[in-house]
Amino acid sequence: MAIYTENGRIAQTGPVSGSSLVDLKSGQVSREIFVSDEIYQQELEQVFMRSWLFVGHESQIAKPGDYFASGMGEESVLLCRDRENQIHVFLNSCRHRGMKVCRYDEGNTPVFTCPYHGWSYSTDGSLVGVPYFRSAYHEKLDKSKWGLIEVAQLCNYKGSIWATWDPDAPPFLEYLGDFKMFLDLTLDSWDGREGGSEVISGVQKWLIPCNWKFPAENFSGDSYHNISHRSVDMVGIGPSGSGRRDMSERQQARRLHVMFPDRGHHTGVYVLPEDTITPPAYQDSPVVSDYFARCEEKRRESRGKWGRVIGSPGEIFPNTALHPRQPRTIAVWHPRGPHQTEVWRWYLVDRDAPDEVKDFLRHYYIRYSGPAGLTEQDDMENWNYAHTASRGTVARRYPYTYEQGLGYEQADFELDGLKFPGMVTDITESKSSEDNLRNLYRRWSEFMDADSWNDLATWRG
Ligand code: FES
Ligand code: FE
Repeated sequence: MAIYTENGRIAQTGPVSGSSLVDLKSGQVSREIFVSDEIYQQELEQVFMRSWLFVGHESQIAKPGDYFASGMGEESVLLCRDRENQIHVFLNSCRHRGMKVCRYDEGNTPVFTCPYHGWSYSTDGSLVGVPYFRSAYHEKLDKSKWGLIEVAQLCNYKGSIWATWDPDAPPFLEYLGDFKMFLDLTLDSWDGREGGSEVISGVQKWLIPCNWKFPAENFSGDSYHNISHRSVDMVGIGPSGSGRRDMSERQQARRLHVMFPDRGHHTGVYVLPEDTITPPAYQDSPVVSDYFARCEEKRRESRGKWGRVIGSPGEIFPNTALHPRQPRTIAVWHPRGPHQTEVWRWYLVDRDAPDEVKDFLRHYYIRYSGPAGLTEQDDMENWNYAHTASRGTVARRYPYTYEQGLGYEQADFELDGLKFPGMVTDITESKSSEDNLRNLYRRWSEFMDADSWNDLATWRG
């Protein structure tokens, strides 16, 4: 492909190289990576085929035979639990002519029967039924070779299910590295116990007319776009009825960005003051406010100083966004061509929370996130118009700047005795840094240039 300079000259031709489009020294990123068809096709191969992707939560497939139709990159996959209680992820495509073997969102079944010619597959993926097997195939088709296509690796981490098509990808926990403790902030119970989360039934799915990297970079920790949410802050949709989250917590906290350059994951965190316990005021329900006050106390007890660290938006490379609390959700930005993204959003609660708490959170989540959520609507408006305004022949010649806070990241960062892994920027005073966004594009460009995981697992030495 040809990349053009600002005055219309050809700057480079030939195969796309990630590092020529992402300049980490100046903090500039070419707009082509958001709008080019050719780059999009290459990232499906180089990024989405190699990465670990979030496909769902085990609470969605609690019983044998339960399934949930999910997605990896552009493709439909089936997350299911077989009769022996084993969890699988299969490509949702019949081995005969490719028809989707399951066209429902979720359910329970003993077999997936293809609607086209009727091949059927058991929930462990094996081909168990072929119409006219005797008369038309003369019993010669080797059914053992034609089962559903299964992912190369799968991991159930505290109930969250992750999968990759790449047999050479490092195991999921190695892929996470030290980011694990920040994923835990989303998956662990509010009171600090390990795991214990479940998904509120019903995953929200909707389309946005923009490249998948617009939401991905925003949820990497775009701490700069508060102006976008000014109206929703004034409306006061937060649990305490003010702001969009609980402002008292945030105002007292130290704010950090934490990123892992070798993995491409990153997050924001708040570190609450040592001597202040600030249980959020959960409006008028004593059941709800008592629950969270108790949880806050227990978490501080069981986790010590780390109990003061609460999460804000972050992301696991490439397209899984985490929002650990207020609201507590996981989103996946599914690519749907260079100019469209399909968002899937899962909402989490403590499995053993009282029904009133779950119901309270469900209402809060919906008014914050999703297509009807006031905060997410603000964001989508920006991504939509920014993408459209970046597609034109002139527009795509001009790079974006990500130089904010360049060079202010610190290794071995310590705060009140808490030693943070990764690279940290303290944004308490500066309010914002584009460090996490650069981290996303650094890793993206490495994936675009790498031949295999041999080049990507640099931590192995
Ligand atoms: Fe499924 Fe033919 S496409 S049986
Ligand atoms: Fe936002």
